Amino acid sequence: MSKHKVLILHGPNLNLLGRREPEVYGKKTLADIDRLIKERAAVLEIQVAAFQSNYEGQLIDRIQDARGNYDGILINPGALTHYSYSLRDALTAAGLPLVEVHLSNIFAREEFRQHSVISPVASGVICGFGATGYLLGLDALLAVIKER
Ligand code: DQA
Repeated sequence: MSKHKVLILHGPNLNLLGRREPEVYGKKTLADIDRLIKERAAVLEIQVAAFQSNYEGQLIDRIQDARGNYDGILINPGALTHYSYSLRDALTAAGLPLVEVHLSNIFAREEFRQHSVISPVASGVICGFGATGYLLGLDALLAVIKER
């Protein structure tokens, strides 16, 4: 059986991790997080490809290309979480198992962060566990993929 393939997407400003509000988002850089994800993927025997962009359209292009090429998507959409209907539409159109991850507990923050337009089209959401959330998310996504 060929390995399951998961697309990891990081939205706007996540390239700044490590120096961006470390008291909120932690001290790990995006490279640190991608390394942890790859290590976990090796244990789970799945393939991962990670992509970060500050541009909504680039994320949407990747999501459109994911259909047929990946078995699931793990995404931290950054602030696009709260208002991007085009990102949500792309994720819906992809029709792939989807897990939404946030480093911070968005429900304990400003009101505008407490609503996600992505969550209704996700299989599930993990937030508030920092970088560990990506690893929990990968485990959860694989479970969803296997159940399909
Ligand atoms: C975030 C939460 C968002 O509200 C914020 O805009 C981000 C990061 C998180 O991982 O906690 O960029 O998605």
